[in-house]
Amino acid sequence: MKSVVVKKANSFELEINSIAPDKSISHRCAMFSIYSKEVSTIKNYLQAEDTLNTLKIVKKLGAVVEQDGSNLKITPPKNLNEPDDILDCGNSGTAMRLFCGFLSSLDGFFVLSGDEYLKRRPMARVVNPLRSIGAKIDGRKSGDLAPLSIRGCKLKAFDFKSSIASAQIKSAMILAGLRSDGVCSYLEPELTRDHTERMLNGMGANIKKEGLKTFITPLSKTLKPLNITVPADPSSAFFFAVATAITPNSKILLKNLTLNPTRVEAFKILKKMGVKIKFIEKENIYEPIGDILVEYNELNAVEVSKNISWLIDELPALSIAFALANGKSVVKNAKELRVKESDRISSVVENLKLCGVKVKEFEDGYEVIGGDLKEANINSYGDHRIAMSFAIAGLNSNMIIENIECIDTSFPNFFDILSKITKVNLES
Ligand code: S3P
Repeated sequence: MKSVVVKKANSFELEINSIAPDKSISHRCAMFSIYSKEVSTIKNYLQAEDTLNTLKIVKKLGAVVEQDGSNLKITPPKNLNEPDDILDCGNSGTAMRLFCGFLSSLDGFFVLSGDEYLKRRPMARVVNPLRSIGAKIDGRKSGDLAPLSIRGCKLKAFDFKSSIASAQIKSAMILAGLRSDGVCSYLEPELTRDHTERMLNGMGANIKKEGLKTFITPLSKTLKPLNITVPADPSSAFFFAVATAITPNSKILLKNLTLNPTRVEAFKILKKMGVKIKFIEKENIYEPIGDILVEYNELNAVEVSKNISWLIDELPALSIAFALANGKSVVKNAKELRVKESDRISSVVENLKLCGVKVKEFEDGYEVIGGDLKEANINSYGDHRIAMSFAIAGLNSNMIIENIECIDTSFPNFFDILSKITKVNLES
């Protein structure tokens, strides 16, 4: 298992144009290209394990992918190929859950599987809603755990009310609704990220929003191909926003990110904590895209209990800012953190304790008393966002992070960027 030593940093001023391309958008580019009959052109596709697995699956379904670095041309199959092997989603919950919705109405038999971590994550949240509209899906523990088998069939129109705020479930149901037998509606408890709706509408689908309700009209024609440059991932960029927020007299310009409001909430929380943050919108292609300028300022504690789905991937990194803020920060209503790549409530709490921070764990969150961090030996629990969050903590007080291979699932050049700020010793 690989580990890394990250050393305390001095102040820095940087402009970064190499943040990893957005993971959510990249997955969807590969998958949605199959909804067209023409060739999709995708520039800046994320070259990380999760999204490369999705691309492999799309190829197994019969698409032809021409690749020049991170630029792709995807020619969709004339007729979908029934794969002769399992479809391996690796570590990616997004791939597995979206493919459930995508495949359950297609003609054929499909088996989705993944790595040891993904095989422990709950799938009933997509399997049950899909079964309720006729999908034939099964798996271990009555369909809650992968491997999952899918026998494609006709799906019924639905009016579904979800009790879980999850873009993955919403997206799976939208994909199912597109091939169902009538107009469908999906009601979510909170607005979750909306890349699926924006991208499919950009391709010519008819998906309408009314508050928290999404109306999906089944496809009556094939869609236009995608022509997109994937913007940088704000969830990946956020690690460097926190790096700036905890290193006095530092400043960073993070370039060409999606500024989709469902994705930049964590930057707004940092702003609320005192950090100087400016959003600079430059263009709008499927979604607003631009730069974020972050400047160090003293950090004050904050309470976070709303829009949790907009923060779900950034709370581990935010917790490092909480640990160095004045006062007690509290996270509530965040039970969903427990079913991510690791149980993120427990991985954050256990690792902060190792850093000497006073923390309290709740069923749906945690509280952090700000103060100092001390050097520690951190366990990533195989979760990329835990590994990167505590690597950033190293900028404040040297850290050793164990089990860092997981970073390759979303941000393979993370340490290249980090080493512009401080000394990074990678060890195998
Ligand atoms: C994602 C949705 C989120 C997020 C994940 C990516 C997506 O999961 O945590 O990293 O691309 O739809 P949930 O929708 O399950 O909260």
